[in-house]
Amino acid sequence: MAEEKFPPVEVQREPDSAPLAGLNRYATVRAVQEALVQLRNVTKIYRHGEIDVTALNNVSLDIAAGEFVALMGPSGSGKSTLLHIVAGVDRPTSGQCLVQGLDIGTLSETALATWRNQHIGFVFQTFNLIPVLTAFENVELPLLLTGLSARERRVHVTAALELVGLADRMRHLPRQLSGGQEQRVAIARALVTDPTLIIADEPTGNLDAHSATEVLTLLQQLNQTIGKTIIMVTHDPRAAGYAQRIVHLEKGELLNGTGEPRS
Ligand SMILES: Nc1ncnc2c1ncn2[C@@H]1O[C@H](COP(=O)(O)OP(=O)(O)OP(=O)(O)O)[C@@H](O)[C@H]1O
Ligand SMILES: [Mg+2]
Repeated sequence: MAEEKFPPVEVQREPDSAPLAGLNRYATVRAVQEALVQLRNVTKIYRHGEIDVTALNNVSLDIAAGEFVALMGPSGSGKSTLLHIVAGVDRPTSGQCLVQGLDIGTLSETALATWRNQHIGFVFQTFNLIPVLTAFENVELPLLLTGLSARERRVHVTAALELVGLADRMRHLPRQLSGGQEQRVAIARALVTDPTLIIADEPTGNLDAHSATEVLTLLQQLNQTIGKTIIMVTHDPRAAGYAQRIVHLEKGELLNGTGEPRS
């Protein structure tokens, strides 16, 4: 799908429109200009011997700071590939992914790994907690790569577990937690470094309806109360309903990616 440039700003105003309508419109334009994530004509081709698979085809998408975006689409449409590119786990074959204005594709492997630790909190469908570590130790893991002292780490880990409502489960091993609680620990682990972006790939895919609601409500709260920017892949329209904006991918192309956030 061809890239849609920023649409021209509507200058007409309804005679009876609220006095701030113009300002609000300005705010929207500013948000677009200052998008936290800017995908510019991103194409990703995986090479399998003789066969090329185009996972993403010329995708352009802006995500503003503080947005909660749900990414939907059929299996194989490129959703995880898009997340991996924004998270700096994978690189585009062509095009750019800018985060806070930085083209992360230009970073060396080492610089990209450091950037990822500082800026990305990743939440997986299967939680990916380390089974022999307690909830506290799992959440502490990303902080071991920082220069924080044990005492400072404890403060951050405790705060993250409190945010997800599991301060009383710190000493539990993953197998002593419900699926929903495990995913909340994983969200605490994603949050503990105070990343720029939370990226979640089908975070409720392995959860029952009740636990899914818990996790989605938590993500929504993190977005609304501490302003975390969240990009979440989901197959579930109900889950997507927790986001402010739904972006659809099909066969590696965006269907409505430049749509403005729902108010
Ligand atoms: N590492 C890889 N090597 C080769 N091909 C890949 C790789 N990762 C993804 N692909 C291919 O790229 C396409 C998009 O895959 P992707 O995992 O992004 O889809 P998805 O939308 O996340 O699907 P699902 O909903 O099943 O998770 C698929 O055809 C897939 O086979
Ligand atoms: Mg996927």
